[in-house]
Amino acid sequence: MRSEIDRFIAETTDTFLAPFHENLRVALSSETRLHGRAEEWDAALATIQSTTQASQFDSDTVSVGDPNADFEDVLSMFLPWRKGPFQVGKTLVDTEWRSDWKWQRISRHIEPLEGKQVLDIGCGNGYHLFRMLGAGADLALGIDPTILFNYQFSLFQRLSQPNRAYLLPLRSEHLPQFGGFDTVFSLGVLYHRRSPIDHLKELLSFAKPGGELVLETLIVEGDQNTLLIPRDRYAKMANVWFIPSTSMLELMLRRAGFIDVKTVDVNVTSLEEQRATRWMQFQSLEDYLDPTDKTKTVEGYPAPARAILTARKPA
Ligand SMILES: C[S@@+](CC[C@H](N)C(=O)[O-])C[C@H]1O[C@@H](n2cnc3c(N)ncnc32)[C@H](O)[C@@H]1O
Repeated sequence: MRSEIDRFIAETTDTFLAPFHENLRVALSSETRLHGRAEEWDAALATIQSTTQASQFDSDTVSVGDPNADFEDVLSMFLPWRKGPFQVGKTLVDTEWRSDWKWQRISRHIEPLEGKQVLDIGCGNGYHLFRMLGAGADLALGIDPTILFNYQFSLFQRLSQPNRAYLLPLRSEHLPQFGGFDTVFSLGVLYHRRSPIDHLKELLSFAKPGGELVLETLIVEGDQNTLLIPRDRYAKMANVWFIPSTSMLELMLRRAGFIDVKTVDVNVTSLEEQRATRWMQFQSLEDYLDPTDKTKTVEGYPAPARAILTARKPA
């Protein structure tokens, strides 16, 4: 994981990110804690020879590594695998989520990424970062505080040909106001934040003037006054704070300073899109829904539905 931070610093010295390196170094040293399994995971990564093997980022399954090589033992060290799918050497890592379906819903509504510098907040293991490169982005920076996901990303990078996807183990509230990204993505993060308008303001500060925001989050049906704050858990998740209607989300985006706000997609998450697999054997969506009425969560709330919104920072 450390080598990924060093790679980011070394390879972005000639970009608009260089003036922020010191700030990021300070945040990384004060905010990143050593994970209990770090030694074991570092040893597992060290068994993988770096490769210049061609990687494929422009199809639904992101492929890395020699297709004849067997990485199953190493992959098993980094369970659970939530976002994908990935083909790693001989192995298809059929992850809990069909993240390719989310990308299909997003990619048809956003500005072309060709030659762009993009930021993905809460990017998990980086599946969508690779898809952004596959769509032509020049540089794709992700941040995610979950250390396991940073290790999963390091594993992919050891098996990929050189590319400009980077992942840093940070939270968005620890980032400087870059003011330079062409497109900023926040997918599946807003409802985890206790202060959603502050999150939107952070996102605004990362984009360049005229830059695009792509926001994906949980929503409920309703008008501009509708907001669900779960009494306790939502779909068994303890860290869900705000589930607004799309009209309220649009208002929140405008109040945060965005213009050209549009809801471009609404989708009820299906049992085919989020499910337990061999690579994620814990509970999944099926266990979070009322067994007698799949339109409700076990707590009696509407089953998870998600919206994609696009907006722009004023030029
Ligand atoms: C539901 S997952 C979404 C992953 C991916 N963006 C996707 O849409 O498939 C939420 C991710 O946000 C990360 N996260 C939570 N709080 C965050 C924060 N304050 N800043 C950045 N990432 C955060 C979590 O570690 C997790 O990987």
